[in-house]
Amino acid sequence: MEEQASLEKAFIILAAGKGTRMRSETPKVLHCVAHRTMLGHVLDLARRAEAVRSVVVVGHGAEAVAKAAEAHRPAPAGLSSALQEPQLGTAHAAAQAREALRGFGGAVFVLFADTPLITLKTLEQLGAAISAGAGVAVLGFEPEDPAAYGRLILDAEGGLARIVEFKDASAEERAVRLCNSGVMAIDGARLWGWLDRIDNENAKGEFYLTDIVALARADGAGVSVARADDPAEVLGVNDRADLAAAEAAFQARARAAAMADGVTLTAPETVFFAHDTALKPDVVVEPHVVFGPGVSVAAGAEIRAFSHLEGARVEAGAVIGPYARLRPGAEIGADARVGNFVEIKNATLAPGAKANHLSYLGDAAIGAGANIGAGTITCNYDGVLKHRTEIGAGAFVGSNSALVAPVTVGAGAIVAAGSTITASVPEDALALARGRQMSLEGRAPRLREQLALRKKRERGGETEGGT
Ligand code: UD1
Ligand code: CA
Repeated sequence: MEEQASLEKAFIILAAGKGTRMRSETPKVLHCVAHRTMLGHVLDLARRAEAVRSVVVVGHGAEAVAKAAEAHRPAPAGLSSALQEPQLGTAHAAAQAREALRGFGGAVFVLFADTPLITLKTLEQLGAAISAGAGVAVLGFEPEDPAAYGRLILDAEGGLARIVEFKDASAEERAVRLCNSGVMAIDGARLWGWLDRIDNENAKGEFYLTDIVALARADGAGVSVARADDPAEVLGVNDRADLAAAEAAFQARARAAAMADGVTLTAPETVFFAHDTALKPDVVVEPHVVFGPGVSVAAGAEIRAFSHLEGARVEAGAVIGPYARLRPGAEIGADARVGNFVEIKNATLAPGAKANHLSYLGDAAIGAGANIGAGTITCNYDGVLKHRTEIGAGAFVGSNSALVAPVTVGAGAIVAAGSTITASVPEDALALARGRQMSLEGRAPRLREQLALRKKRERGGETEGGT
């Protein structure tokens, strides 16, 4: 067989449905899986598939959904949205993309924005079928429970004859286990003609996109079926339980991918990834670690148990946690240490710097090899404005120091424990900023006596022995 040049791709992303069962003010497709909206997952797929145009069909919550699509980064090529009002079914929804796809003759993919986990590999199978001349390629799957999915009805030769919706299916057809995922690729040159011929004479009174299969067959066009290996890939989200199932499926996939890439996960089922978590080989992640969006960790770094990271970069050999919190803008240099109950926000730790216990470092730059003592706080916020703290290389900040920003501690300087630093400390200086200690010999017993007397007076007539 001759190699087929692969056709250009366009995406139609259906996102007009109501999503009643989510019981939410937020449109269904804007709910998140792994910190990215479901719509965002499908838009990202469009980008990775190198679709040349993508049309989001919006209806319920149209404004919010269209806005979210436009704001998605990195943006897929040729993105637009089309309004479907009222919503008369999936074929009617796809037809709204007609203007936006005028003149496009490649492979048109129809996807649902509430089905976020389709892989590029699966999509390529559908694309290959269209490039090889098929009119329609359908993604089927065999779920454990076929429930109310549309059924793929095969002919005697094993080809796809038609799709029947559950509500319209006979008992015999309902016994079929091969189901419609909803994802299709269609030859862009013939799509609109077929859509024009779809009617709404069915149980729901809707224009079903699935009817395109029988029409294509009747026209003598080739129709092919690809199968998703993993039913989780085609999981459609209708309610919060489905959303949790999609999250679980995403996490399972992310954990497997991380381990395949050479990351050690001591207890993979307790580690949670964001859609963009980037871990290099030989990173070790201990149990119960949560990655929010925007985290990258370089080779050989260690994220110890019960740590929470978001918007953070961790360089090679650094050790984070246990019980550390890295917030957006945290940049932890090579071999640096961030220990228990340390929170870091918009702050850099240069290589080898250490903040091992109970600290808040915000809007700060910590120099190479500097040591931040237990309980050190950068007082970065005066209630109105944020201010920066700079700590030089090799500086030593004693325990329980408050650094009132804006302030600088010079390289090699020492800040005595318990200091409240309000003025900059020069390089190599020793700064003591706390009350001078007095010890009054023998005064403790006298003080106790006085206190006991006062207690007695204040009690008046009350009996003794109470608390
Ligand atoms: C659809 C398929 C069914 C398949 C199932 C997989 C049809 C007719 N049926 O059924 O074969 O097994 O998905 O999950 O296609 N939408 C619009 N506008 C509309 C109607 C729907 O944008 O007028 C969008 C929805 O927002 C949703 C998607 O299309 O994202 C699917 O619609 P839905 O009504 O959920 O279809 P199903 O009945 O689940
Ligand atoms: Ca559905």
